[in-house]
Amino acid sequence: MSLMGNLFFSSLLAPSRSDDDDTESRSSRVTQLCTYFQQKYKHLCRLERAESRQKKCRHTFRKALLQAASREPECTGQLIQELQSAACRRTSISQTKLREVEPAACSGTVKGEQCTNKALPFTRHCFQHILLNRSQQLFSSCTAKFADGQQCSVPVFDITHQTPLCEEHAKKMQFFLYM
Ligand SMILES: *[C@@H]1O[C@H](CO)[C@@H](O)[C@H](O)[C@H]1NC(C)=O
Ligand SMILES: [Zn+2]
Ligand SMILES: [Zn+2]
Repeated sequence: MSLMGNLFFSSLLAPSRSDDDDTESRSSRVTQLCTYFQQKYKHLCRLERAESRQKKCRHTFRKALLQAASREPECTGQLIQELQSAACRRTSISQTKLREVEPAACSGTVKGEQCTNKALPFTRHCFQHILLNRSQQLFSSCTAKFADGQQCSVPVFDITHQTPLCEEHAKKMQFFLYM
């Protein structure tokens, strides 16, 4: 995942050798930071557009309901009741489903021994081992790299998949931004 994130953090964490390197790495850091924020900005714009689309939908729906209520109050009342009970049925079904699922043990192993942690809901792995499942898409590996070139392997819950960072590396990033 994210070459950009790796480059960014290796340049951030690796010690620089000379002044020439410094200027160069500074400008590349700035460029990478710009790209990073551009991506974040685009993502936020997308979220906002989705939100306003939803708002419009709700608004249109309320208006239609109001119109219907003034023309056919009886039928509209019935419709609202039906919608409400349908919504209730949906939530009660999902709640019983949720209750039925007992947290199983993690199927991962630590040095040959079965992991004793409880699995995350709807998975067969605990937080430490969730990345063992290659087909899951909710967690990704932290994209930061250490100075020795090793990538951090802490799982991060980041469904946006935009240069995910573990808590520690997110803190480092914050520190870097406010230096
Ligand atoms: C891996 O994750 C996918 C998607 O969440 C799931 O359907 C599948 O059962 C998981 N496999 C294992 C072995 O946990
Ligand atoms: Zn485990
Ligand atoms: Zn990390």
